[in-house]
Amino acid sequence: MKRHLISAADLSRDDALLILDTAEELAKISDRSIKKLPTLRGRTVVNLFFEDSTRTRISFEAAAKRLSADVINFSAKGSSVSKGESLKDTALTLEAMGADGVVIRHSASGAPYRLAGWVRGSVVNAGDGTHEHPTQALLDAYTMRRRLGSLEGRRVTIVGDVLHSRVARSNVLLLSTLGAEVTLVAPPTLLPVSVASWPCEVSYDLDTVLPKSDVVMMLRVQRERMNAAFFPTEREYSRRYGLDRERFARLKDDAVVMHPGPMNRGMEIAAEVADSPRSTIVEQVANGVTTRMAVLYLLLGGADLGGNQ
Ligand code: CP
Repeated sequence: MKRHLISAADLSRDDALLILDTAEELAKISDRSIKKLPTLRGRTVVNLFFEDSTRTRISFEAAAKRLSADVINFSAKGSSVSKGESLKDTALTLEAMGADGVVIRHSASGAPYRLAGWVRGSVVNAGDGTHEHPTQALLDAYTMRRRLGSLEGRRVTIVGDVLHSRVARSNVLLLSTLGAEVTLVAPPTLLPVSVASWPCEVSYDLDTVLPKSDVVMMLRVQRERMNAAFFPTEREYSRRYGLDRERFARLKDDAVVMHPGPMNRGMEIAAEVADSPRSTIVEQVANGVTTRMAVLYLLLGGADLGGNQ
């Protein structure tokens, strides 16, 4: 495996399967009453969050602590970033504290790549602008594999605001590496120009794609990144691209519904669909901890999972 995890494209099929299999092993340990392992004892993980997060920030902290790493949580709010300190100077300050791994979320696409040139430790991209979110794709693949078995030939439909979604890009890259067939469904205004070069199909008609899908992943409409009108009204968007009760009823019996969170309930997904037994949304959060444990363990070269040094 490479030293950093910045893009899902950094992962070969063998790398991705190693992470998913390691997460399976770690999940067995997470079911025990004492969940903690000594495997990263003496290592330091810095969580560097320049953008808001609930799931990713908390699960990286839980993952590092369960592996016994020392954890430093940095949030741009309340730090010297508000006095104008640059990403590079912030990174070098943390480097001076001896970070073995730096987990970064930033609003600028490419920030983790820049950071990797300044620090000695491994850099993990926890979401950069509209670019990538590779550990979200890993936890999504892990969740699909647990529900459906192998992803080879599985049809995964990703629906909604692809233009602003780092989750969509990382999922398309990772799922194609793992042999799944991905279709993106979105209004033309919410697809990036570059989508023609992505390893996936594109459709504008959700109703023709849904009955063939094994997985339907709904994306959040990212209003905070929109500086123009991308669709006429929320009601119109929801009518054409939302997963409501009627569309949900037309899915295959064993199809699963996913959403990376946070959700706009009632817009891209109806509340009763989000809360149904075929929704994996809560499972995805739990699987985020074990998947991120696997990533930290493999990148930071932890002791074996029996805890031997
Ligand atoms: N899915 C995801 O990245 O959620 P957060 O923004 O809460 O971390």
